[in-house]
Amino acid sequence: MTDLKSFLNDRAPADLSRLLLNIASASLQVRRSLPFTTRLTRGVNPSGERQTEIDLYANEVFASTLLATGTVSEVASEEMAEPRKGVGRLHVAMDPLDGSSNIATNNLLGSIFGFYSASLPCSGEHMVGAAFITYGPMLTLTYTTGAGVHTFVAAEGREGDPFILMEESSVIPSEPEVYGLGGQRSEWIEPVATFVSSLEGRGLKLRYGGTFVGDFNQVLRRGGIFGYPALKNKPHGKLRVLYEAAPMALITKNAGGYASDGARDVLSIEPSALAETTPLYLGSAGLVREVEAMISGPRARAPGS
Ligand code: AHG
Ligand code: MN
Ligand code: MN
Repeated sequence: MTDLKSFLNDRAPADLSRLLLNIASASLQVRRSLPFTTRLTRGVNPSGERQTEIDLYANEVFASTLLATGTVSEVASEEMAEPRKGVGRLHVAMDPLDGSSNIATNNLLGSIFGFYSASLPCSGEHMVGAAFITYGPMLTLTYTTGAGVHTFVAAEGREGDPFILMEESSVIPSEPEVYGLGGQRSEWIEPVATFVSSLEGRGLKLRYGGTFVGDFNQVLRRGGIFGYPALKNKPHGKLRVLYEAAPMALITKNAGGYASDGARDVLSIEPSALAETTPLYLGSAGLVREVEAMISGPRARAPGS
């Protein structure tokens, strides 16, 4: 069985490998704390959302772990108003705990990381890697540093590095199977409602669990589309560009899919604020381009694009 450390060895730059190994071990600590850190606090994050104890604990564990590697010049987080500063080449944007609303019902939770080579906020074109953790029946780490998307599973109790290779070079299946869109159906902008009804007519199955990481992970493995669309009362959607949408857009792209804000590639968005949100549609490229065209009209495509 290949472990994370040996797999990373000659496949990623040393500083990114160091980050991924440290994130992996920190995720075990976050998972162990879950039974004791599920209560709501009085805190509110920069997006105006109440913070749970695990939001704050995961933020602390990951931020201190990342800065201690000596490879990171700043850590920006969904849970902090300002980034924490360090020394190093990389700039990390993270959603330390995705799916807080699902804690009370013991649904799958996650953590999301984007690794940038420019100071934040900046566009996804400066991203040199991305990763997400799922805290589900298994604890998994999925990452890309450019060459493919790879998944490791924590097999605690074994000798040495607990993270072992589960899937190498994942590719989003071209035959889409599942779909899931957030927000109230009555609030979706018209083209999205029409698009989703057509999906049901094509036999795709609804899979929506309310945690972006879990809903995205299903699309990555089974093909289809996830969206948190523009809503009539929230035209800029709910998910944050830096912390959620762009990292998962990079993973989607490197697994052969596409991520759009309804008009353009999510990776081309230049956020002007750390907590800026965007409508998001990502997964099997054909489906995402179809809903993008329904929302914004067919785009003149460069030949061969
Ligand atoms: P977070 O817990 O980091 O704030 O993220 C929650 C997000 C995302 O995980 C999910 O896709 C979305 O909120 C679900 O929103 P609804 O509860 O409106 O469906
Ligand atoms: Mn989130
Ligand atoms: Mn979060």
